[in-house]
Amino acid sequence: MPITKICCMGAGYVGGPTCSVIALKCPHIRVTVVDKSSERIAQWNSAKLPIYEPGLDAVVQKCRGRNLFFSTDIAQAIEEAELIFISVNTPTKRFGNGKGRAADLKYVESAARMIAEISAGDKIVVEKSTVPVRAAESIMNILRANHKPGVSYQILSNPEFLAEGTAIDDLLNADRVLIGGEESPEGQAAIEELCKVYEHWIPRKNILTTNTWSSELSKLAANAFLAQRISSINSLSAVCESTGADVSEVARAVGLDSRIGSKFLQASVGFGGSCFQKDILNLVYICECLNLPEVAAYWQQVIDMNEYQKSRFSAKVIESLFNTVTDKKISILGFAFKKNTGDTRESPAIHVARTLIDEGAKLHIYDPKVEESQIMSDLSNCGAILEPELVKSRVSIFKDAYSATKNTHAIVVCTEWDEFVELDYKRIYAEMMKPAYIFDGRKILDHDKLQKLGFIVQTIGKKIECQKLRGSGKIKLKIEEKWYRYHFEALS
Ligand code: UDX
Ligand code: UDX
Ligand code: ADP
Repeated sequence: MPITKICCMGAGYVGGPTCSVIALKCPHIRVTVVDKSSERIAQWNSAKLPIYEPGLDAVVQKCRGRNLFFSTDIAQAIEEAELIFISVNTPTKRFGNGKGRAADLKYVESAARMIAEISAGDKIVVEKSTVPVRAAESIMNILRANHKPGVSYQILSNPEFLAEGTAIDDLLNADRVLIGGEESPEGQAAIEELCKVYEHWIPRKNILTTNTWSSELSKLAANAFLAQRISSINSLSAVCESTGADVSEVARAVGLDSRIGSKFLQASVGFGGSCFQKDILNLVYICECLNLPEVAAYWQQVIDMNEYQKSRFSAKVIESLFNTVTDKKISILGFAFKKNTGDTRESPAIHVARTLIDEGAKLHIYDPKVEESQIMSDLSNCGAILEPELVKSRVSIFKDAYSATKNTHAIVVCTEWDEFVELDYKRIYAEMMKPAYIFDGRKILDHDKLQKLGFIVQTIGKKIECQKLRGSGKIKLKIEEKWYRYHFEALS
């Protein structure tokens, strides 16, 4: 029987956009997205959606009230649906066994228990949240142990590969859709039902079907590979800064090898986002549990390199500003973990800002899409908790880049928003303290042009040597000297 009603548990970054696109492409399917947060559902039903995603507003406007519904009535949506997506959050565990690494499956488990409690007919339950390998087994155990007489379940794994900022395009033109299920005839039939949903817009050849465990592991593997590329190029960016190589040139030369490919080789202040770190930590934890310490150490290094990159960049800012930023005003351009999203989860900007606050700097922060309350809460709650009063006294949020940079000693670019490329840097320079510094953590600006305007420029993966300081001769950053000293001391 073809699917006519879908329920999605979890109206977040994954569930919301995914189900909006399913509703758009399958007008005959009634899609109900539910969430236990009534505030979130109210936002989905309002003119201002809870997440910023290019193209999403138009899709929601077209489908909402037609075959797309956002509701807090979880029980009714479960009862009616033939197919249920579990799209709830799976954060890294904060306490107990696997703390700081394992995925916390409590939301997945409570979703499964609720499905078992309510369902009076057969259901296909699809795990969409990224979960540890064999999580489907846990869901199945819960469902089968609690099922009502005559009710049967099929569990599928259908991981989502969308990236934030391009979610709608990724969903509409997915490279592939991956569906894993049981190898039994019932499992294969369930896979077929979900295939038919996607086939409304994805060519069948791009829909991959595997067993459940391959599907679950593939999602972790894809994110681990992507993050690994960034850590690899970032590691080389440090080598470039200590030699004469330019990491952009290296990335281009390497990426032209068709075996390697050019994507995801953009050196940066570090990767962020809700997935990469969480999924790799999860992979590392799984490897440790499977007694595969060498494999665990291999993937852990991707995270360690990312931490190193964020710290290295922050240290460079401080070092360049004469080794002290106490009471200096520094503007941070961009707080989201990447452009075209308002999401700040694991954003490298948090790390940079926190380091500068710890060193006594006063920050002027501007991001086109991140709300002030979000920035304040991120800076108060990361790592060792900072007093909100201290954060308030050190951080000011601005509504545009010009007012944020005015009277500051330095600009630190943390997110690659297009509008930062287009700014009038002549005007900005005129209104900054001198010497005026720019630290381009995303390699998006025209460094030659900025230097000609009088800025002292530092970036990732390129040694920018002698620069003229207006009125005060030349300074040369002694990075190499430090490097040699460090190694000499380490050897002797
Ligand atoms: C390599 C580079 O490919 C080439 O560009 C460079 O100029 C020299 O080094 P080569 O060592 O001749 O070339 O062979 P390559 O095809 O890269 O294979 C190297 C090793 O990796 C082989 O043992 C091969 O069996 C192995 N390999 C390759 C794998 O195990 N898996 C793969 O997917 C690819
Ligand atoms: C990622 C995966 O791309 C997506 O397939 C998966 O479903 C979820 O996780 P997302 O985290 O939304 O998506 O964004 P992505 O574009 O992958 O960027 C992640 C981080 O890496 C960002 O901080 C980005 O700025 C950074 N990045 C990306 C780089 O530093 N360099 C690059 O070359 C690419
Ligand atoms: P993701 O990025 O994976 O989509 P989010 O945190 O953005 O994660 O969204 C997950 C959503 O799932 C949250 O809005 C949360 O309130 C919701 N949620 C968690 N558990 C349940 C549940 N049992 N039933 C319904 N919604 C849930």
